[in-house]
Amino acid sequence: MANNSTLSTIPVIAIDGPSASGKGTVAQLVAEKLNFHYFDSGALYRIVAFEAYKNNIEWNDAEMLGELAKNLKIQFSRNEIYLDGERITEAVRSEEMSSGASQVATHPQVRNALLDLQCSFRKAPGLVVDGRDMGSVIFKDAVLKIFLTASVEIRAERRYKQLINKGLNANYAQILADLQSRDERDSWRSAAPLIQTADALLLETSKCSIEEAVKLVLNAYEISNKKP
Ligand code: DC
Repeated sequence: MANNSTLSTIPVIAIDGPSASGKGTVAQLVAEKLNFHYFDSGALYRIVAFEAYKNNIEWNDAEMLGELAKNLKIQFSRNEIYLDGERITEAVRSEEMSSGASQVATHPQVRNALLDLQCSFRKAPGLVVDGRDMGSVIFKDAVLKIFLTASVEIRAERRYKQLINKGLNANYAQILADLQSRDERDSWRSAAPLIQTADALLLETSKCSIEEAVKLVLNAYEISNKKP
């Protein structure tokens, strides 16, 4: 088991930002380029929402959700998520679970229960993580912190196109309203709200492609490595 001083030598790149900003895709590509591990912290809140739903636990029942979050048997394997051995990769990505995740994530009981698990993803040679509080709470000592965002209209448009390209039904106005309410909940909750910390680099992707965003993060990482 690595101790804290060993852990702090393992570099972390923390990419935080609002829903559908593209941070997950950017984080995964950056991790691939650097040969680092990748961890999607939002998946944990989605899993809590999913498991609560299955067990008829309300998304506002902070105590029950906290207990549930302590006892999850999660396995991440390549790009797949398993809970108690069952593959739930797509199930947790539904619009319903997106909303549920945002609701269960407001409870400190849930966030505290997931702390150690999140820290355990820090493994050599390095980690790229994305979420809401990666740079502000979980990996405060990250070597690089990025706040990746885009206007809510652009994010809604991207999500709309994604769904249409998959042959699914999509309603732009509904997507926009859902994103607005998740933004508000994630940014205004008292426990670990989404904020741009003073030491985080702002990356506005409304007018830039995923490839450009990846390049910017890699350049910033290179620069941060050169600092004495
Ligand atoms: O990144 P995502 O859309 O999969 O996250 C789903 C929800 O989980 C998001 O609306 C808020 C919550 N979340 C959080 O509170 N803290 C994180 N580090 C990651 C996600």
